[in-house]
Amino acid sequence: MSAKLLDGLKISKEIKAEVEKEVKILFETKEIKPGLAAVIVGNDPASQVYVGSKVKTCESLGLYSEKHTLAESTTTEELLALVNKLNEQDSIDGILVQMPLPKQIDADKIFSAISPSKDVDGFHPENVGKLALKQNGFVACTPAGIMELFKRYGLAVAGKHAVVLGRSRIVGLPMALLLTHSDATVTICHSKTQKLREITKEADIIIAAIGRTAFVTTEDIKPGAIVIDVGINKLSEETEVLRYFPDYTKRLEELEKKGYTLIGDVEPVCDTVAGYLTPVPGGVGPLTIAMLMKNTLKAAKLRRGL
Ligand code: GUN
Repeated sequence: MSAKLLDGLKISKEIKAEVEKEVKILFETKEIKPGLAAVIVGNDPASQVYVGSKVKTCESLGLYSEKHTLAESTTTEELLALVNKLNEQDSIDGILVQMPLPKQIDADKIFSAISPSKDVDGFHPENVGKLALKQNGFVACTPAGIMELFKRYGLAVAGKHAVVLGRSRIVGLPMALLLTHSDATVTICHSKTQKLREITKEADIIIAAIGRTAFVTTEDIKPGAIVIDVGINKLSEETEVLRYFPDYTKRLEELEKKGYTLIGDVEPVCDTVAGYLTPVPGGVGPLTIAMLMKNTLKAAKLRRGL
């Protein structure tokens, strides 16, 4: 292995400790307790785990939190009614509607309905517009967390060629904007991109956010590149574990115990070529939650003019 592993878990602990300290001061001096409402529609097991973890983190840092679970059959209008109620609720500073949403729900309508001042996911058109124009607003948590990772590891982005795989509202698009604002030269690749692997090979920085198991291979990256793996995919077959993990002992144990192990969008063996790599798990995932806490604290302060 040649790559230095970028420890997202460690950085997330630093960020959370900073949030916890500020939340404590806010409560002691002004009796303000930032509050987050997490909304989950349906029973996608991964979403349940993510939202559970977000709520638990709120509790551990001294934030108020509410979890709202709605049925898989929920309509756009029903979800809008809940969002409107949360917009009005004084104890709530941040509203998070977990993605993906069931097909019958118009996600654009939902994100546009969340008050921009409570939009801690940064998905509202006003906040996306502010990000595009480099104005202060709420920035989506995963890309914001990745920028924190660069900053805290002292990894310069300016002048570098960054290739973003994926153009989603959650990661790819805001990531490309943030990197552009940090003076990187940015290429966005997606499902229609031609000769994608020739493009990634030129990259100083690769952000893999396409949701495909081990999509980025050792052949696709320039030696020494910074590779950020946003993917969270499940492997549940022993043959797959043996195929993807050169160091498979612990992964097989995990498979035995939990029935699956996690793998990113980047082949684990890329650690022999990359200069820096985020592990899965323990890379980008924990940073997303830490930035959500930071955004909720920011929302609580802004809403009160602090
Ligand atoms: N699904 C995957 N990542 C996210 C996120 O950051 N926010 C929301 N709301 N849903 C997600």
